[in-house]
Amino acid sequence: MDFKEIIRVIPDFPVEGISFKDITTLLKDGEKYRQAIDELKARVSHLNIDVIAGPEARGFVVGAPLAYALGVGFVPIRKSGKLPYDTIEAGYDLEYGKDKLAVHTDAILPGQNVLIADDLLATGGTISTAVNLVQKLGGNVVGAAFLIELEQLEGRKKLPGVEVVSLLSYED
Ligand code: PRP
Ligand code: MG
Repeated sequence: MDFKEIIRVIPDFPVEGISFKDITTLLKDGEKYRQAIDELKARVSHLNIDVIAGPEARGFVVGAPLAYALGVGFVPIRKSGKLPYDTIEAGYDLEYGKDKLAVHTDAILPGQNVLIADDLLATGGTISTAVNLVQKLGGNVVGAAFLIELEQLEGRKKLPGVEVVSLLSYED
């Protein structure tokens, strides 16, 4: 299945020069959405995963169904101020803008093997922040799974030692 056919590309959104990969056209198609999650599942099945962590918001629509399919738990990594219990936080730069991510202090137990999941790997700012948060809690990041990778932004370089899986690559 070529998932590129079903991902809508919007030029100059949200700012000029960004070619936005709109996954909503994939998500609304039940069969294709399931195929995408099943394919990601197959690509990470060799990893020993205890729990999946995914950053708000689009990381939820990849990470949560993948966790369900693998029969493991899901940990939301949220934007600052959204989680009700004790958290640790980390700030980061985005491809466009800045943000802060937070996770509950008891979300991951020391020694747990964690797969991080998101829709898109661009600069790697989001995912390396998620990796830092998981590692601060004592988790082992065993991999990172994405629907889409923007190769030219070289986000992989921010994830040394992490196995990176992506279903699709784009040049920009
Ligand atoms: C987008 C996307 C990834 C991140 C990738 O999230 O969903 O999480 O950017 O960019 P990076 O590799 O340069 O960090 P965004 O922060 O736009 O928010 P959303 O998921 O809540 O839509
Ligand atoms: Mg995101």
